[in-house]
Amino acid sequence: MDLETYIRALPKAELHLHIEGSLEPEMMFALAQRNGVTLPWSSVEATRAAYAFSDLQSFLDLYYAGAAALIHEQDFYELAMAYFARAHADGVVHAELFFDPQTHTERGVAFQTVLDGLERACDEARVQYGISSRLILCFLRHLSEDEGFATLEQAVPHVSRIHGVGLDSSEKGHPPSKFARLFARCRELGLHIVAHAGEEGPPAYIVEALDLLKVERIDHGVRAAEDPALVERLVREQTPLTVCPLSNIKLCVFPTLQDHNLKQLLDAGLKVTINSDDPAYFGGYIGQNFLATAEALHLSRAELKRIARNSLEASFVGDAERTPWL
Ligand code: HPA
Ligand code: ZN
Repeated sequence: MDLETYIRALPKAELHLHIEGSLEPEMMFALAQRNGVTLPWSSVEATRAAYAFSDLQSFLDLYYAGAAALIHEQDFYELAMAYFARAHADGVVHAELFFDPQTHTERGVAFQTVLDGLERACDEARVQYGISSRLILCFLRHLSEDEGFATLEQAVPHVSRIHGVGLDSSEKGHPPSKFARLFARCRELGLHIVAHAGEEGPPAYIVEALDLLKVERIDHGVRAAEDPALVERLVREQTPLTVCPLSNIKLCVFPTLQDHNLKQLLDAGLKVTINSDDPAYFGGYIGQNFLATAEALHLSRAELKRIARNSLEASFVGDAERTPWL
């Protein structure tokens, strides 16, 4: 069996996927036309050509511009269904989708419109592909904690439809400590907690995410490697890291995939998973992330199996739901 077939056949969960980051330029243009939205690019080709990033912020500027094409419930439904079709083709059996409500509500799109469309796709994906899923609301960390509280207020009537909260957007200068009160409230509501930390930000942000936000997983976390005591702690506590290798290359966190520290983290005993982050922008869905990383870092099939199994174990599904995959 070739490596690509082997990877596809591994049952796996995707735990770090921004649904807005799965908006392919073709769909972006189709939706923009349907909705009468003007995009900053002249064509699909020009859009793809603009995807040359120097850091996280240079990506985020385009990512938020592209998300402007999403207006109606049907748009969010179609976006997520397109993602589930791709994920199914890559052997994903469970997906935990991040969504950024503040990106939409600040443009006048209702919170419920976003949630209704995404949830309808999640329900349909279960029937059509047998994929289970969860929705994780991410707060934009470049906004204030008060703005986060306002968003949480909009989410509270729908809290049973949301499984967790996360923290994304511009990391540097926006440490987890900025959101300590907001996440305390989210924990009181019984939500699962994750946060992006140690993508561009220092290892101290990972420590803050653990101690102040009390995260159950770290999104990215690759800069943990700079702090041996932190690595030791993450190994001891088996805190999962949702690593996104192709994203890290596109955003210049590492110069090339050969330089990526995923194998170093795995060898140290960390609970590493592989994910796609924003596949429409970074040039690969989860299968491509597995394959390119396996080839660049010479990962064995046993290591790939371990990584896929880590993703199932790190997911927010109960033991009964997880058992058939393990
Ligand atoms: N990092 C931070 N915020 C994001 C990302 C990311 O990789 N993708 C979408 N929002
Ligand atoms: Zn991310």
